[in-house]
Amino acid sequence: MVGTRLVSRYLSRRVLLRAWRGAEAEDWLSPSEREVFAELRDPSRREGWLCGRLLAKRLILDDVLAPSVGEEAIHPTEIDIHSRDGLGRATRPRVTLRGRLQPWALSIAHSDRSVLVALSRAPGVSVGVDVARLTPRERRWVHSAGEMRLASTLWAVKEAIYKAVSYGEQFTPLRIEVCPRAGGGYTYHWDGAEPEAAHTIHIADSDRETAAIVIAGSSDSQATQ
Ligand SMILES: CC(C)(COP(=O)(O)OP(=O)(O)OC[C@H]1O[C@@H](n2cnc3c(N)ncnc32)[C@H](O)[C@@H]1OP(=O)(O)O)[C@@H](O)C(=O)NCCC(=O)NCCS
Repeated sequence: MVGTRLVSRYLSRRVLLRAWRGAEAEDWLSPSEREVFAELRDPSRREGWLCGRLLAKRLILDDVLAPSVGEEAIHPTEIDIHSRDGLGRATRPRVTLRGRLQPWALSIAHSDRSVLVALSRAPGVSVGVDVARLTPRERRWVHSAGEMRLASTLWAVKEAIYKAVSYGEQFTPLRIEVCPRAGGGYTYHWDGAEPEAAHTIHIADSDRETAAIVIAGSSDSQATQ
């Protein structure tokens, strides 16, 4: 896995948190992350936010940094992941290592069941991810209508596109139109316009939810795993 330019992980929250049993998950947070965490009130939001940090840090430590012999390993508390701007607005997550902002594109998404993170180190490439979940009644309805999971796929792809290519504007689903691509897969229009850069859209469907990863940027960056 080390050496590839896009790395991603998709795990259930339960499985993820089990890995921290006996160890204090909050011990992985940096001092400034602890301050943000302390302000989150809703239990599900707290758990989702924490799982996003744990999985992203695991990905960075194992798949991005993986220290060479003799190199001093980075401790998880030396990695800062922040997704709020100075005015407290939600933004694309930024990664800081020992106080130095990294030129990486990281994206995080959580459902009430799982967490998905993806990171690209390729210059000029951005990445966006989303996990869309239907209620049991919606799943039965979608299934009986023979629509498969198109609704959740469209939604997950819209959000992942937004996370990959937006620049400070609000998420407005109607501005992003997801369309089938000749030869299979999906592409999109933003305000009716073709994408400016080459992009790849990956979808993973399960019985319960749909996960989408959008990679936008130069074509040599699109090797994924
Ligand atoms: C992107 C958004 C629709 C996703 O919300 P959601 O479906 O409830 O949650 P998801 O689990 O799919 O994604 C949440 C993650 O998206 C990331 N995210 C948030 N805003 C983002 C943005 N503008 N671009 C890229 N990623 C973003 C964060 O990492 C967040 O996780 P975290 O808070 O644990 O770090 C929502 O966060 C949003 O509307 N953000 C934009 C807010 C805004 O208008 N910003 C403009 C500044 S004026």
